[in-house]
Amino acid sequence: MKILPRLVIGNLRPRFPIIQGGMAIRVSTGRLAGAVAREGGIGLIAGSGMQPDELRQEIRLARSIANGGYIGVNTLVAATEFMKVMETAVDEGIDVLVAGAGFSRDLLALGQRAGVPVVPIVSTARLAVLAEQLGAAAVVVEGKEAGGHLGTTKSSRVLYPLVKAAVKIPVLIAGGIADRDDLLEVLRMNVDGVQIGTRFAASLESNAAPAFKERYLQAREGDVFKIHSPVGLPGNALSTPFSDRIAQGPIPVERCDGCLKRCSRIFCIVRALTEAKDGHLDRGLVFAGEHVYKIKEILSVAEIFHRFFDGLEFKDA
Ligand SMILES: Cc1cc2nc3c(=O)[nH]c(=O)nc-3n(C[C@H](O)[C@H](O)[C@H](O)COP(=O)(O)O)c2cc1C
Repeated sequence: MKILPRLVIGNLRPRFPIIQGGMAIRVSTGRLAGAVAREGGIGLIAGSGMQPDELRQEIRLARSIANGGYIGVNTLVAATEFMKVMETAVDEGIDVLVAGAGFSRDLLALGQRAGVPVVPIVSTARLAVLAEQLGAAAVVVEGKEAGGHLGTTKSSRVLYPLVKAAVKIPVLIAGGIADRDDLLEVLRMNVDGVQIGTRFAASLESNAAPAFKERYLQAREGDVFKIHSPVGLPGNALSTPFSDRIAQGPIPVERCDGCLKRCSRIFCIVRALTEAKDGHLDRGLVFAGEHVYKIKEILSVAEIFHRFFDGLEFKDA
């Protein structure tokens, strides 16, 4: 089937039109990003919550695995250290910068200065147009199906055509792509590429603990629900003993590092995500996309690529 687009982001030409979404806190680290890059996608390290030394190490680890493939860093604009993380990534010779949970003119300016492509994640045509005007190399349009923080209540399938019609730069779609059927559905919409998170969080190379991945495998259709994150945005998550507790009311924050530019302090999101990543679901929040119920096995990144792309051919130019 001749259905695959050739994705070009600035000077990057990945073999397959796919970005593995950045997943904080430390779910997508160098091992996952490197494996995705080696298979021909763009692998993202989630830099949110990392100090410069740790980020440098993860980028180097990813490069040692990637076999020349492309490595990027994703950071939440809402993070206090957002620009410091992105500047460190540039200093390490990163291939692409992706920004979620907010919009940053400073990042686009940094990308222009450093000659590094910047890809903002947006949920409206208005922000996509602004991103293009400020020099973005591409945008990711993320819908309400996506794992993690959300900027919209609309489906990625509804938003995509609106954003695509508004800009000339490549537009990737994110949210609700967990298996081959999902991929074929969005490829038929003539997307320029896809960004996928949840399926890769449930890979062998993902840095999440076995209990986190097991929670994904137990998920049934409709299990994902919206939590109110202290970031000020809703987020898609699976229920855990901890999510039951936050539904009842705020959980006092014992120690605060001031990691967010603005935080409602209804609970500590960094701690909750870290506990989940470490497998402590009684104290943790498991972010997941709406299509997590389609994931039945933990697979290697190589196998995930086979299942998504085997037998698909590129469209004629
Ligand atoms: C566990 C988890 C953590 C995430 N963390 C981030 C993040 O730190 N920054 C970000 O921009 N997006 C984050 N996302 C969103 C992904 O990068 C991606 O856009 C999204 O997962 C795509 O939807 P899907 O999960 O349906 O594939 C996260 C998603 C998951 C599942």
